[in-house]
Amino acid sequence: MQTTRVFSFVIILATIYLSASCNGKTEEKNDLQSNSSLSKEDISDAKADVKLEKIKLPKNFTIEVWAANVPNARSLAISDEGIVFVGNRQDKKVYALVDENQDGKADTKYTLTDGLNMPNGVAYHDGDLYVAEVSRIIRFKDIQNTLNNPSYEVVYDQYPSENHHGWKFIAFGPDGMLYVPVGAPCNICDPEEEIFASITRIDIKSPNPQPEIYAHGVRNTVGFDWHPVTGEMGLRTMEEIC
Ligand SMILES: *[C@@H]1O[C@H](CO)[C@@H](O)[C@H](O)[C@H]1NC(C)=O
Ligand SMILES: *[C@@H]1O[C@H](CO)[C@@H](O)[C@H](O)[C@H]1NC(C)=O
Repeated sequence: MQTTRVFSFVIILATIYLSASCNGKTEEKNDLQSNSSLSKEDISDAKADVKLEKIKLPKNFTIEVWAANVPNARSLAISDEGIVFVGNRQDKKVYALVDENQDGKADTKYTLTDGLNMPNGVAYHDGDLYVAEVSRIIRFKDIQNTLNNPSYEVVYDQYPSENHHGWKFIAFGPDGMLYVPVGAPCNICDPEEEIFASITRIDIKSPNPQPEIYAHGVRNTVGFDWHPVTGEMGLRTMEEIC
């Protein structure tokens, strides 16, 4: 488990680097499509064309391909059982990767849904998978037991619909709240609406979840986490490589 986390962390960094883009290109908005393309696919023989030797690692770290044929992988979340969920920005799908034969590599790829609007953010909490699109948060309940027949419900759908910096990284905080950023809808601007360039948090246990603004002045975060001892939130933004 620990090893998987380390690999995933390194791979997610690599993926973010490879797909980094600051141009905020507007992508067409898609309505929910039919889910006839949901599938279960054997990826045990898939090969990844990645130059792992170019990734500099700290001492005693190693890196290898854990799963291949996962287009535009961008954010990852891991369930208690080791299922890896994958969101993406350019594609419209969310995947679940499973090491069914337990040989240390993913062999099965489930496509959980198709037709989403930049489903970049994924977070796992209490058996459920949360996915962030540009303007909404959806939830796949009991995802581990519904991989073959997934369905979701909408948790909240009133986030701004601006696509520029609208793709989201999400994570649960130590307080059990779901943290959801809302990027600035531009590269250099001071948007009037308070919600932009913020990190919000939302109580997913509430019958009518409403986000509150937790932090301001965050143009476009691509990841955050909490210090295990102090509980402080640290985040990474795209500013430095724009
Ligand atoms: C790397 O591993 C070796 C052997 O286990 C250990 O002695 C050394 O302290 C480790 N180095 C770091 C930086 O963790
Ligand atoms: C798949 O389609 C069914 C029936 O249209 C729907 O209830 C379900 O939410 C869809 N699931 C996904 C993951 O899109």
